[in-house]
Amino acid sequence: MKSRIFYPTEVVIEAGGHRSLLTYMPNTKRLFAVTGHNAMEKAGVLDTLRAQCASASIDLCIHKGISTNPLHTDVDAVADACRAFGADTILGLGGGSSVDVAKMVAMVMTNGGSCWDYISIGGESLRKIEKPTLPMIAVPTTSGTGSESTPYAVVTHAETMMKKGMGHPYLYPTTALLDPELLALMPLEQVAVTGFDAFGQALEGYTSGRSTLHSEFYGYSALKLIAENFERVYDCPDDLEAKAKMAWGATLAGLSIGLVDVNLAHAMSHPLSGRFDIQHGRAVALCTAPAIWFNRADVGDKYGQTVALFGHSAGSSDQSAETLIKVFYRLTEKFGVDIELKNYGLGDVDMDAVTTDALEIGAINTNVKPVTHEDVRLLFTHVWEGRYA
Ligand SMILES: [Fe+2]
Repeated sequence: MKSRIFYPTEVVIEAGGHRSLLTYMPNTKRLFAVTGHNAMEKAGVLDTLRAQCASASIDLCIHKGISTNPLHTDVDAVADACRAFGADTILGLGGGSSVDVAKMVAMVMTNGGSCWDYISIGGESLRKIEKPTLPMIAVPTTSGTGSESTPYAVVTHAETMMKKGMGHPYLYPTTALLDPELLALMPLEQVAVTGFDAFGQALEGYTSGRSTLHSEFYGYSALKLIAENFERVYDCPDDLEAKAKMAWGATLAGLSIGLVDVNLAHAMSHPLSGRFDIQHGRAVALCTAPAIWFNRADVGDKYGQTVALFGHSAGSSDQSAETLIKVFYRLTEKFGVDIELKNYGLGDVDMDAVTTDALEIGAINTNVKPVTHEDVRLLFTHVWEGRYA
Protein backbone atom coordinates (compact mmCIF):
# COMPACT_ATOMS: atom_id res chain seq x y z
CA MET A 1 0.00 0.00 0.00
CA LYS A 2 1.23 3.46 -0.85
CA SER A 3 -0.48 6.80 -0.23
CA ARG A 4 1.39 9.95 -1.11
CA ILE A 5 0.42 13.60 -0.90
CA PHE A 6 2.21 16.38 -2.73
CA TYR A 7 0.50 19.73 -2.65
CA PRO A 8 2.52 22.87 -3.20
CA THR A 9 -0.36 25.37 -3.32
CA GLU A 10 -1.00 27.97 -0.64
CA VAL A 11 -4.77 28.00 -0.01
CA VAL A 12 -6.39 31.06 1.51
CA ILE A 13 -10.06 31.30 2.45
CA GLU A 14 -10.89 34.93 3.14
CA ALA A 15 -14.07 36.93 2.64
CA GLY A 16 -13.03 40.08 0.78
CA GLY A 17 -9.56 38.67 0.12
CA HIS A 18 -9.67 39.91 -3.49
CA ARG A 19 -9.24 43.45 -2.18
CA SER A 20 -5.75 42.59 -0.93
CA LEU A 21 -4.77 40.22 -3.72
CA LEU A 22 -1.28 41.66 -4.13
CA THR A 23 -0.38 40.27 -0.70
CA TYR A 24 -0.03 36.93 -2.43
CA MET A 25 2.32 38.12 -5.16
CA PRO A 26 5.03 40.07 -3.34
CA ASN A 27 7.57 39.99 -6.20
CA THR A 28 5.21 40.83 -9.05
CA LYS A 29 6.02 43.73 -11.37
CA ARG A 30 3.96 42.82 -14.45
CA LEU A 31 0.69 41.02 -13.85
CA PHE A 32 -1.32 39.34 -16.63
CA ALA A 33 -4.90 38.58 -15.57
CA VAL A 34 -7.17 36.13 -17.36
CA THR A 35 -10.90 36.29 -16.77
CA GLY A 36 -14.30 35.52 -18.28
CA HIS A 37 -16.56 37.82 -20.24
CA ASN A 38 -18.05 40.57 -18.10
CA ALA A 39 -19.05 39.38 -14.63
CA MET A 40 -15.91 40.62 -12.85
CA GLU A 41 -15.97 43.95 -14.70
CA LYS A 42 -19.65 44.51 -13.89
CA ALA A 43 -19.13 43.66 -10.22
CA GLY A 44 -16.27 46.17 -9.93
CA VAL A 45 -13.73 43.44 -9.14
CA LEU A 46 -11.47 44.42 -12.04
CA ASP A 47 -11.54 48.06 -10.95
CA THR A 48 -10.45 46.93 -7.49
CA LEU A 49 -7.59 45.03 -9.10
CA ARG A 50 -6.63 48.02 -11.27
CA ALA A 51 -6.56 50.30 -8.21
CA GLN A 52 -4.39 47.86 -6.24
CA CYS A 53 -1.90 47.55 -9.09
CA ALA A 54 -1.80 51.31 -9.69
CA SER A 55 -1.05 52.05 -6.05
CA ALA A 56 1.72 49.44 -6.00
CA SER A 57 3.17 50.54 -9.39
CA ILE A 58 2.50 47.12 -10.89
CA ASP A 59 1.84 47.00 -14.63
CA LEU A 60 -1.41 45.17 -15.31
CA CYS A 61 -2.80 43.62 -18.48
CA ILE A 62 -6.30 42.12 -18.28
CA HIS A 63 -7.42 39.58 -20.88
CA LYS A 64 -11.19 39.16 -20.82
CA GLY A 65 -13.47 36.79 -22.72
CA ILE A 66 -12.48 33.26 -21.71
CA SER A 67 -15.35 31.00 -22.75
CA THR A 68 -16.76 27.89 -21.10
CA ASN A 69 -14.87 25.48 -23.35
CA PRO A 70 -11.76 27.31 -24.59
CA LEU A 71 -10.14 26.15 -27.84
CA HIS A 72 -6.42 25.47 -28.01
CA THR A 73 -6.04 28.31 -30.51
CA ASP A 74 -7.72 30.69 -28.02
CA VAL A 75 -5.27 29.66 -25.31
CA ASP A 76 -2.32 30.09 -27.66
CA ALA A 77 -3.55 33.59 -28.58
CA VAL A 78 -3.78 34.52 -24.90
CA ALA A 79 -0.27 33.17 -24.37
CA ASP A 80 0.98 35.31 -27.28
CA ALA A 81 -0.60 38.39 -25.69
CA CYS A 82 0.95 37.47 -22.36
CA ARG A 83 4.38 37.05 -23.94
CA ALA A 84 4.08 40.40 -25.74
CA PHE A 85 3.19 42.04 -22.43
CA GLY A 86 6.16 40.43 -20.70
CA ALA A 87 4.27 39.17 -17.66
CA ASP A 88 6.08 37.82 -14.62
CA THR A 89 2.91 36.59 -12.84
CA ILE A 90 -0.41 35.18 -14.08
CA LEU A 91 -3.77 35.60 -12.38
CA GLY A 92 -6.71 33.33 -13.22
CA LEU A 93 -9.88 35.05 -12.03
CA GLY A 94 -13.18 33.36 -12.87
CA GLY A 95 -14.66 29.92 -13.40
CA GLY A 96 -12.70 26.76 -14.02
CA SER A 97 -11.98 27.62 -17.66
CA SER A 98 -10.36 30.96 -16.73
CA VAL A 99 -8.21 29.26 -14.10
CA ASP A 100 -7.30 26.47 -16.55
CA VAL A 101 -6.34 28.96 -19.27
CA ALA A 102 -4.22 30.90 -16.76
CA LYS A 103 -2.43 27.67 -15.84
CA MET A 104 -1.74 26.77 -19.47
CA VAL A 105 -0.54 30.30 -20.28
CA ALA A 106 1.77 30.28 -17.24
CA MET A 107 3.10 26.92 -18.48
CA VAL A 108 3.70 27.75 -22.16
CA MET A 109 5.33 31.03 -21.12
CA THR A 110 8.24 29.00 -19.75
CA ASN A 111 7.98 25.76 -21.73
CA GLY A 112 7.15 27.19 -25.19
CA GLY A 113 5.06 25.88 -28.08
CA SER A 114 1.31 25.47 -28.29
CA CYS A 115 -0.73 24.29 -25.33
CA TRP A 116 -1.98 21.37 -27.48
CA ASP A 117 1.61 20.11 -27.81
CA TYR A 118 1.33 18.97 -24.19
CA ILE A 119 -1.86 16.95 -24.67
CA SER A 120 -1.29 13.24 -24.84
CA ILE A 121 -2.85 11.48 -27.83
CA GLY A 122 -2.57 7.72 -27.89
CA GLY A 123 -0.33 7.91 -24.84
CA GLU A 124 2.19 10.36 -26.36
CA SER A 125 2.44 14.14 -26.37
CA LEU A 126 4.55 16.26 -28.73
CA ARG A 127 6.20 18.11 -25.83
CA LYS A 128 6.64 17.47 -22.13
CA ILE A 129 6.34 20.00 -19.34
CA GLU A 130 9.91 20.32 -18.10
CA LYS A 131 10.15 23.79 -16.56
CA PRO A 132 8.24 25.37 -13.67
CA THR A 133 5.52 27.72 -14.82
CA LEU A 134 5.39 31.42 -14.07
CA PRO A 135 3.93 32.15 -10.61
CA MET A 136 0.18 31.69 -10.95
CA ILE A 137 -2.59 32.86 -8.63
CA ALA A 138 -6.00 31.17 -8.92
CA VAL A 139 -9.05 33.06 -7.73
CA PRO A 140 -12.07 30.88 -8.56
CA THR A 141 -15.45 32.57 -8.75
CA THR A 142 -17.31 29.25 -8.84
CA SER A 143 -17.27 26.28 -6.46
CA GLY A 144 -16.89 23.56 -9.01
CA THR A 145 -13.86 22.43 -10.95
CA GLY A 146 -11.40 22.67 -8.09
CA SER A 147 -8.89 23.73 -10.74
CA GLU A 148 -7.31 25.89 -8.03
CA SER A 149 -6.19 22.70 -6.30
CA THR A 150 -5.40 20.32 -9.16
CA PRO A 151 -2.37 19.74 -11.39
CA TYR A 152 -4.67 19.62 -14.43
CA ALA A 153 -5.87 21.94 -17.18
CA VAL A 154 -8.38 21.09 -19.90
CA VAL A 155 -8.66 22.42 -23.46
CA THR A 156 -10.53 21.62 -26.69
CA HIS A 157 -8.82 21.19 -30.07
CA ALA A 158 -10.13 23.82 -32.49
CA GLU A 159 -10.53 21.42 -35.43
CA THR A 160 -11.24 17.97 -34.01
CA MET A 161 -13.22 19.41 -31.05
CA MET A 162 -11.59 16.80 -28.86
CA LYS A 163 -11.54 18.01 -25.27
CA LYS A 164 -8.62 16.72 -23.23
CA GLY A 165 -6.67 17.52 -20.13
CA MET A 166 -2.99 17.79 -19.36
CA GLY A 167 -1.54 17.04 -15.97
CA HIS A 168 1.77 17.86 -14.27
CA PRO A 169 2.77 18.87 -10.73
CA TYR A 170 4.00 22.21 -12.14
CA LEU A 171 0.35 23.02 -12.97
CA TYR A 172 -0.56 23.39 -9.30
CA PRO A 173 -1.17 27.12 -8.76
CA THR A 174 1.20 29.01 -6.48
CA THR A 175 -1.72 30.38 -4.47
CA ALA A 176 -5.47 29.72 -4.45
CA LEU A 177 -7.68 32.39 -2.95
CA LEU A 178 -11.23 31.34 -2.11
CA ASP A 179 -13.19 34.53 -1.51
CA PRO A 180 -16.84 33.92 -0.53
CA GLU A 181 -17.69 37.51 -1.54
CA LEU A 182 -16.77 36.66 -5.14
CA LEU A 183 -18.64 33.36 -4.95
CA ALA A 184 -21.74 35.25 -3.81
CA LEU A 185 -21.75 36.99 -7.22
CA MET A 186 -22.51 33.68 -8.96
CA PRO A 187 -25.93 33.39 -10.65
CA LEU A 188 -28.00 30.59 -9.11
CA GLU A 189 -27.85 28.53 -12.29
CA GLN A 190 -24.06 28.52 -12.01
CA VAL A 191 -24.21 27.66 -8.31
CA ALA A 192 -26.10 24.54 -9.34
CA VAL A 193 -24.15 23.56 -12.44
CA THR A 194 -20.69 24.09 -10.96
CA GLY A 195 -21.80 22.42 -7.72
CA PHE A 196 -22.59 19.25 -9.65
CA ASP A 197 -19.03 19.30 -10.97
CA ALA A 198 -17.73 19.50 -7.40
CA PHE A 199 -20.09 16.69 -6.35
CA GLY A 200 -18.99 14.52 -9.27
CA GLN A 201 -15.31 15.13 -8.61
CA ALA A 202 -15.67 14.40 -4.90
CA LEU A 203 -17.51 11.16 -5.66
CA GLU A 204 -15.09 10.09 -8.38
CA GLY A 205 -12.08 10.91 -6.17
CA TYR A 206 -13.61 9.03 -3.24
CA THR A 207 -14.50 5.95 -5.27
CA SER A 208 -11.54 5.91 -7.64
CA GLY A 209 -10.03 2.62 -8.71
CA ARG A 210 -6.73 4.12 -7.59
CA SER A 211 -8.00 5.19 -4.17
CA THR A 212 -5.41 5.94 -1.52
CA LEU A 213 -5.78 6.92 2.12
CA HIS A 214 -5.25 10.54 1.11
CA SER A 215 -7.63 10.60 -1.87
CA GLU A 216 -10.38 8.86 0.13
CA PHE A 217 -10.01 11.30 2.98
CA TYR A 218 -10.19 14.34 0.71
CA GLY A 219 -13.01 12.89 -1.38
CA TYR A 220 -15.10 11.94 1.62
CA SER A 221 -14.44 15.28 3.36
CA ALA A 222 -15.45 17.08 0.17
CA LEU A 223 -18.69 15.06 -0.07
CA LYS A 224 -19.48 15.92 3.56
CA LEU A 225 -19.07 19.65 2.95
CA ILE A 226 -21.04 19.45 -0.29
CA ALA A 227 -23.84 17.45 1.37
CA GLU A 228 -24.07 20.07 4.12
CA ASN A 229 -23.78 23.19 1.99
CA PHE A 230 -24.87 22.64 -1.64
CA GLU A 231 -28.54 23.40 -1.03
CA ARG A 232 -27.66 26.10 1.46
CA VAL A 233 -25.58 28.11 -1.05
CA TYR A 234 -28.45 27.83 -3.53
CA ASP A 235 -31.20 28.76 -1.07
CA CYS A 236 -29.23 31.46 0.79
CA PRO A 237 -26.85 33.12 -1.69
CA ASP A 238 -25.71 35.69 0.89
CA ASP A 239 -24.60 33.09 3.45
CA LEU A 240 -20.86 33.63 3.15
CA GLU A 241 -20.01 30.91 5.64
CA ALA A 242 -21.86 28.33 3.55
CA LYS A 243 -20.15 29.75 0.44
CA ALA A 244 -16.76 29.33 2.11
CA LYS A 245 -17.53 25.74 3.10
CA MET A 246 -18.84 24.82 -0.36
CA ALA A 247 -15.72 26.38 -1.90
CA TRP A 248 -13.52 24.41 0.48
CA GLY A 249 -15.48 21.28 -0.45
CA ALA A 250 -14.79 21.93 -4.15
CA THR A 251 -11.12 22.52 -3.39
CA LEU A 252 -10.90 19.29 -1.38
CA ALA A 253 -12.57 17.44 -4.24
CA GLY A 254 -9.88 18.92 -6.47
CA LEU A 255 -7.23 17.69 -4.05
CA SER A 256 -8.69 14.20 -4.19
CA ILE A 257 -8.77 13.98 -7.99
CA GLY A 258 -5.38 15.68 -8.12
CA LEU A 259 -4.06 12.49 -6.52
CA VAL A 260 -6.07 9.82 -8.36
CA ASP A 261 -7.65 11.58 -11.36
CA VAL A 262 -11.35 11.67 -12.26
CA ASN A 263 -12.95 8.64 -13.87
CA LEU A 264 -16.06 7.45 -15.68
CA ALA A 265 -18.57 10.33 -15.55
CA HIS A 266 -15.89 12.93 -16.23
CA ALA A 267 -14.39 10.97 -19.11
CA MET A 268 -17.87 10.70 -20.66
CA SER A 269 -18.56 14.39 -20.04
CA HIS A 270 -15.60 15.61 -22.10
CA PRO A 271 -16.93 14.70 -25.57
CA LEU A 272 -20.28 16.29 -24.64
CA SER A 273 -18.48 19.54 -23.84
CA GLY A 274 -15.93 19.35 -26.65
CA ARG A 275 -18.34 18.39 -29.44
CA PHE A 276 -21.49 20.20 -28.29
CA ASP A 277 -20.15 23.01 -26.07
CA ILE A 278 -22.18 21.84 -23.09
CA GLN A 279 -20.85 23.47 -19.92
CA HIS A 280 -18.58 21.14 -17.99
CA GLY A 281 -20.64 20.87 -14.78
CA ARG A 282 -23.80 20.22 -16.79
CA ALA A 283 -22.04 17.55 -18.88
CA VAL A 284 -20.80 15.88 -15.69
CA ALA A 285 -24.32 15.97 -14.22
CA LEU A 286 -25.68 14.32 -17.40
CA CYS A 287 -23.30 11.38 -16.94
CA THR A 288 -23.31 11.01 -13.14
CA ALA A 289 -26.32 8.74 -12.46
CA PRO A 290 -25.49 6.09 -15.11
CA ALA A 291 -21.89 6.04 -13.82
CA ILE A 292 -23.04 5.59 -10.21
CA TRP A 293 -25.19 2.63 -11.21
CA PHE A 294 -22.47 1.10 -13.40
CA ASN A 295 -19.94 1.15 -10.53
CA ARG A 296 -22.29 0.10 -7.74
CA ALA A 297 -20.93 -3.41 -7.13
CA ASP A 298 -17.30 -2.29 -7.12
CA VAL A 299 -17.19 0.62 -4.66
CA GLY A 300 -17.49 -1.33 -1.41
CA ASP A 301 -19.58 0.59 1.11
CA LYS A 302 -18.65 4.01 -0.27
CA TYR A 303 -22.09 4.78 -1.72
CA GLY A 304 -23.54 3.77 1.67
CA GLN A 305 -21.13 6.16 3.39
CA THR A 306 -22.10 8.87 0.92
CA VAL A 307 -25.87 8.55 1.31
CA ALA A 308 -25.37 8.69 5.10
CA LEU A 309 -23.85 12.16 4.62
CA PHE A 310 -27.12 13.17 2.96
CA GLY A 311 -29.14 11.76 5.88
CA HIS A 312 -30.14 8.40 4.38
CA SER A 313 -29.54 4.82 5.47
CA ALA A 314 -27.13 2.58 3.64
CA GLY A 315 -28.29 -0.78 2.29
CA SER A 316 -27.10 -3.35 -0.21
CA SER A 317 -24.93 -2.21 -3.12
CA ASP A 318 -28.00 -1.77 -5.30
CA GLN A 319 -30.00 -0.02 -2.56
CA SER A 320 -27.24 2.45 -1.68
CA ALA A 321 -26.67 3.22 -5.37
CA GLU A 322 -30.41 3.77 -5.90
CA THR A 323 -30.59 6.03 -2.84
CA LEU A 324 -27.60 8.05 -4.02
CA ILE A 325 -29.16 8.42 -7.47
CA LYS A 326 -32.42 9.56 -5.85
CA VAL A 327 -30.51 12.17 -3.82
CA PHE A 328 -28.82 13.31 -7.02
CA TYR A 329 -32.11 13.41 -9.00
CA ARG A 330 -33.78 15.41 -6.22
CA LEU A 331 -31.01 18.02 -6.43
CA THR A 332 -31.12 18.24 -10.24
CA GLU A 333 -34.89 18.71 -10.12
CA LYS A 334 -34.71 21.32 -7.37
CA PHE A 335 -31.98 23.25 -9.22
CA GLY A 336 -33.58 22.83 -12.65
CA VAL A 337 -30.61 21.09 -14.27
CA ASP A 338 -31.84 18.97 -17.18
CA ILE A 339 -30.10 15.58 -17.23
CA GLU A 340 -31.74 14.21 -20.41
CA LEU A 341 -29.29 14.72 -23.25
CA LYS A 342 -32.09 14.33 -25.82
CA ASN A 343 -33.49 17.67 -24.61
CA TYR A 344 -30.35 19.61 -25.55
CA GLY A 345 -31.27 20.11 -29.23
CA LEU A 346 -28.24 18.25 -30.58
CA GLY A 347 -29.94 16.36 -33.42
CA ASP A 348 -28.39 12.96 -34.09
CA VAL A 349 -25.45 12.18 -31.81
CA ASP A 350 -22.86 9.76 -33.14
CA MET A 351 -22.73 7.43 -30.13
CA ASP A 352 -19.67 5.59 -31.41
CA ALA A 353 -17.76 8.84 -31.88
CA VAL A 354 -18.50 10.17 -28.38
CA THR A 355 -17.67 6.74 -26.97
CA THR A 356 -14.33 6.69 -28.77
CA ASP A 357 -13.55 10.18 -27.48
CA ALA A 358 -14.45 9.19 -23.91
CA LEU A 359 -12.22 6.13 -24.10
CA GLU A 360 -9.35 8.34 -25.29
CA ILE A 361 -9.53 10.20 -21.94
CA GLY A 362 -6.83 8.50 -19.88
CA ALA A 363 -8.76 9.05 -16.66
CA ILE A 364 -11.32 6.45 -17.72
CA ASN A 365 -8.71 3.79 -16.96
CA THR A 366 -8.81 4.75 -13.29
CA ASN A 367 -12.50 3.84 -13.01
CA VAL A 368 -13.06 1.31 -10.24
CA LYS A 369 -14.73 -1.04 -12.73
CA PRO A 370 -13.00 -1.54 -16.08
CA VAL A 371 -15.05 -0.33 -19.05
CA THR A 372 -15.34 -1.49 -22.64
CA HIS A 373 -16.47 0.36 -25.75
CA GLU A 374 -19.81 -1.46 -25.49
CA ASP A 375 -20.21 -0.42 -21.82
CA VAL A 376 -19.60 3.25 -22.52
CA ARG A 377 -21.76 3.25 -25.64
CA LEU A 378 -24.64 1.78 -23.64
CA LEU A 379 -24.10 4.32 -20.86
CA PHE A 380 -24.35 7.12 -23.44
CA THR A 381 -27.75 5.80 -24.51
CA HIS A 382 -28.81 6.08 -20.85
CA VAL A 383 -27.43 9.64 -20.74
CA TRP A 384 -29.46 10.42 -23.86
CA GLU A 385 -32.66 9.15 -22.22
CA GLY A 386 -31.88 10.61 -18.79
CA ARG A 387 -32.09 7.27 -17.01
CA TYR A 388 -29.49 5.45 -14.97
CA ALA A 389 -30.04 1.91 -16.30
FE1 LIG B 1 -14.85 18.54 -13.30
